[in-house]
Amino acid sequence: MNEEFSITPWEVKGKIDYERLVKSFGVKIIDDNLKSLIKKVFGEIPKLIARNIFYSHRDLDILLNEYLNGKKFYLYTGRGPSGPMHLGHILPFIFTKYLQEKLSTMLIIQMTPDEKYVYHEDMRPSEVYNYTIDNIRDILALGFNSQNTYIIDDIRNINFLYPLAISVARKVTFSTARAVFGFTPETNIGLIFYMAIQAAPAFIGYFISDEYKYCLIPAAIDQDPYWRITRDIAGKLGFPKPAQIHGKLLPSLKATGKMSTSEPESAIYLSDDDDIVKTKILNAFTGGQPTAREQRLYGGNPEICTVYMYYYYLFEEDDRKLMERYTKCKNGEILCGECKEELSRRIINFLSQHRRRKEKIDDEYIEKYMIDSKVNLEDQIKKYLLLR
Ligand code: TYM
Repeated sequence: MNEEFSITPWEVKGKIDYERLVKSFGVKIIDDNLKSLIKKVFGEIPKLIARNIFYSHRDLDILLNEYLNGKKFYLYTGRGPSGPMHLGHILPFIFTKYLQEKLSTMLIIQMTPDEKYVYHEDMRPSEVYNYTIDNIRDILALGFNSQNTYIIDDIRNINFLYPLAISVARKVTFSTARAVFGFTPETNIGLIFYMAIQAAPAFIGYFISDEYKYCLIPAAIDQDPYWRITRDIAGKLGFPKPAQIHGKLLPSLKATGKMSTSEPESAIYLSDDDDIVKTKILNAFTGGQPTAREQRLYGGNPEICTVYMYYYYLFEEDDRKLMERYTKCKNGEILCGECKEELSRRIINFLSQHRRRKEKIDDEYIEKYMIDSKVNLEDQIKKYLLLR
């Protein structure tokens, strides 16, 4: 029986049925044929695709075939700075970095303090501002190339986005936006307009460089509603439809929904200290038996275990070792305590390295990535508007 769940860009409830999402969102699974094409382009199947974590798409096949014909695409992803980042949030960035490095392509990262400000009506402007800077530092600590990575901060860089956003907004009716996002008469008009701001970077890359013929958006699947509308109106504005590659959400440590800022126990934040990590992992939901004796006798269930999921998504690169852990759990040869202890150790190690890299990222470092420090697009964007 299917459990009920709901997924929007702002909230996820219940246990997500990813197969059902593919049908209801009208996206396509990354199947074996597409995996062969991916292998042709990348020389390998990226781990996050081989493990079906990035599992569905729109037009990725078309884009990769075009790529093989010499037509390049740029990447676009983003972050809404509503709080500190957790391990789930960096998953699409880790994947994006892989794609960027493999294809030596341009990347646009959008920071959306405006989205979070209109969605969380209790947030103060100073909070979103501080999280914008803090989150940029976390993202850059992952090691993006400053030559071809452009950060757009919606507030600071609104002059880059506004001409495109207003062109998008003119083509989207309220009834379409309501059908896609579930807006109600109580929704503030800031959130309704905001979708046009998130659409704009799917086109802005064409103004930065004419080397790029298409745009690919890597993100978790919760962002898909934005792309449905963006794709709808792209042709009307004279741009190609952006393609997407969708990821699954790193599960909550509590076994339902996505990790959420309102439930700090459900996620590991990049800022969590060692003791907090240990406590969170100790209390995580597992597929283990109630006692060690029963675990040895009947074995555990890694399929529903959040601890196993963390290994699967981020903390066990080696497929053979992952399989070994799975089998040992099933056979009762390993206890939850051992799995948790090792996972805590790996997370603590990862976070301490991450924080060391983050410490080095100061304002001067960030400036090298900001779009307004790198290009002046006003003339091109004006020309685009005047020619239409
Ligand atoms: P935000 O800040 O909610 O999420 C940032 C990125 O992380 C993904 N994500 C997750 N991935 C794996 N596991 C999770 N538990 C998890 N939770 C969130 C999101 O899908 C996203 O890729 N509106 C956006 C900001 C944005 C954006 C974009 C995102 C603007 N333009 C283009 C992606 C692509 C937001 O609030 O993301």
